[in-house]
Amino acid sequence: MEQGENKVKEIAGRLKNKVAIVTGAGSGIGRASAILFAKEGAKVVVADYEENGGKGTVSIIRKAKGNAVFVKTDVSSPSDARKVVDAAVKNYGKLDILHNNAGIVRWGNAVECTEDDWDRVIDINLKGAWLCSKHAIPEMVKQKGGSIVNTASIAGCVAFAKIAAYCASKGGLVELTKSMALDFAPQKIRVNAICPGVIRTGMTKGILDDKKTMQGMLQATVIGRLGEPEDIAYAALYLASDEASFVTGTTIVVDGGWTVQ
Ligand SMILES: NC(=O)c1ccc[n+]([C@@H]2O[C@H](COP(=O)([O-])OP(=O)(O)OC[C@H]3O[C@@H](n4cnc5c(N)ncnc54)[C@H](O)[C@@H]3O)[C@@H](O)[C@H]2O)c1
Repeated sequence: MEQGENKVKEIAGRLKNKVAIVTGAGSGIGRASAILFAKEGAKVVVADYEENGGKGTVSIIRKAKGNAVFVKTDVSSPSDARKVVDAAVKNYGKLDILHNNAGIVRWGNAVECTEDDWDRVIDINLKGAWLCSKHAIPEMVKQKGGSIVNTASIAGCVAFAKIAAYCASKGGLVELTKSMALDFAPQKIRVNAICPGVIRTGMTKGILDDKKTMQGMLQATVIGRLGEPEDIAYAALYLASDEASFVTGTTIVVDGGWTVQ
């Protein structure tokens, strides 16, 4: 055997024998993450409250001979958060990876933001990640380990105008990531966050359709292009995999250089 050949074999199927839940997997970053996880050998629970998107992701994975199941889930509902973790165990016998990715944005500064918008953003982006983790962690403890990956945002590290609730939710998620990393390190559960910059998904389509805004975003992204969902999925894959076994409580910024300036 040539030097290094063994390593190559080990790397093929980076999530082999793992079971993963990806929330918000019906589109954008979550869909890319679910597809990549499945491609790397994971059995994937595709969780989304949009049935068409979720089933679409499962169909793409199955066509490529991957293994996935759809579970209609509103992450802000305590019973749904419980249900999606139970579904992973029922379908695949265990849970190794939770990618908390479902999220929404509502526009407005702190004065303009309505109470309904504030509650919905915090309920999905922050409380949803907590609820799913709350139910996932005991299953991971049974497995003697696991990895939680939270999709935060650079809006959780630096401020963006007129999305006050969103910035608060993502800043909270970065801190929740550290708190859970600290509390569950003894049980070998790693918890990390990814802070994406501007990624071309359904969430940003509206603003990127405006040519002037698009130009501004491109200029702020020093690498000279906007992000694609796969750019984030690759970071999630690393954090989810055993390659990141010494990495916990951190945030990986994947923003094309937006925040270096
Ligand atoms: N696109 C960006 O530029 C960008 C930048 C930073 C962070 N993010 C974060 O990435 C994550 C994914 O966003 P995206 O850009 O792929 O957007 P997207 O709108 O394409 O995907 C979000 C998915 O989450 C699902 N979802 C929303 N609320 C849900 C709920 N309560 N329960 C279950 N599923 C729910 C939606 O149905 C959708 O499929 C979000 O957390 C978002 O805040 C996105």
